[in-house]
Amino acid sequence: MNIAIGADHAGFELKQVIVAELELLKYQVKDLGTHNPDTSCDYPDFAAAVCREVLQSRSLGILVCGTGIGMSIAANKHKGIRAGLCTSEFQARMTRKHNNANVLCLGARVTGRDLALAIVREFMAAEFEGGRHAARVQKLE
Ligand code: RB5
Repeated sequence: MNIAIGADHAGFELKQVIVAELELLKYQVKDLGTHNPDTSCDYPDFAAAVCREVLQSRSLGILVCGTGIGMSIAANKHKGIRAGLCTSEFQARMTRKHNNANVLCLGARVTGRDLALAIVREFMAAEFEGGRHAARVQKLE
C-alpha cells in the first residue's frame, strides 16, 4: 500500500522516524517534505501536498506538526479528506473503522516516538467497517 507523509519543521523529526518504520513494514512511502528541519515553514502547505496525493492515488496519508491540530484543521478543509488527530492506538483504530479516515494527524510535541509509531501501525492495519458507518461518512460529504 502507498502512503503519503508530510510535516512542518516541528514534525520533521517524528516524520523521519515514521518513514523509517513504514519502509521497514514494506509500505511505499511518498515523503512530501519538509526536508529541512532548520527552516520554519507553514503546515497548510504540507497538508495540501499530502491531501492532493491521497485524493489522486486513493491512498492514505500522515501529517505531523507540533500539536497535530494545525495539520488536522488544514487537511479537513480538503473535500474528500477525513483527517483524524490521534493520541491513542484506540483512536487510530476507530478513526479508520468508523470514520474511514484517510489521513492520520499526529502532534510531535504531544505524542512520544514509541506511542506515535504504535498509533501509525494501528491506523495502517485497521479497515473501514462500512454498514451504518458508511451512511454517516456519506453525510460528511
Ligand atoms: C509550529 O510552531 C506549530 O505552530 C505547528 O507545528 C503546529 O503545532 C500548528 O498547529
